[in-house]
Amino acid sequence: MTLQQKQKEAVAQAALTYIQPNQILGLGTGSTVDCLIALFPTLPFKIKGVASSSERSSKQVEALGIPVVNLEDITSIDTYIDGADEINHHLAMIKGGGGALTREKIVAAHAKQFVCIADESKLVETLGKFPLPIEVIPMAAHYVIRKMEQMGGKAQIREGFITDNHNLIVDVEGLKITSPIQLEASINQITGVVTNGLFAARGADILLLADQNLQVRTLRK
Ligand code: 5RP
Repeated sequence: MTLQQKQKEAVAQAALTYIQPNQILGLGTGSTVDCLIALFPTLPFKIKGVASSSERSSKQVEALGIPVVNLEDITSIDTYIDGADEINHHLAMIKGGGGALTREKIVAAHAKQFVCIADESKLVETLGKFPLPIEVIPMAAHYVIRKMEQMGGKAQIREGFITDNHNLIVDVEGLKITSPIQLEASINQITGVVTNGLFAARGADILLLADQNLQVRTLRK
């Protein structure tokens, strides 16, 4: 097993303390979240229900006999737990490497508390080394690419990938993101953009970060 995989397992283990009985848990998507789901059976109680951000996470949760709840049936969630592709010291993130950014943002918007789980390679000074994913309505993809190139990025459609919402992902390289809140809002203004992978206006509240010795640090906003 790689060190990074062990780090993901360490933060997943640490995240279990944020899951309470009788609460609906908001759940993200990705390999770190996969580690968390794999640990659900070790909890001393059964999770009441999960608000899921992807078909991928829903399938895994349902296989454990945990109900996946519809957002229309709830008004808020206490805790949302998810990974990140990059996170800065203000706990703003780039997400969407797995293409689930829109549903992740929707579920996170319902949460009182966002707990990010990550290995320390994800912590950066400035966001933007990881290509920024943007979910777009298919017929707008080339328009969005041109707009992002005017903003200084190099953009391309993610090949062979369709989101759970039947849209495309445009990945944008080369953006040095010094004002993530402003950039998140500007990109969302481009016609045809569903949402972009900057989670800055609503960043994480807590970051559980595993180092090379598998020690987990807790950073707060
Ligand atoms: C999926 C995401 C993931 O949270 C992000 O890509 C991190 O994934 P991983 O835990 O596999 O590193 O945003 O859309």
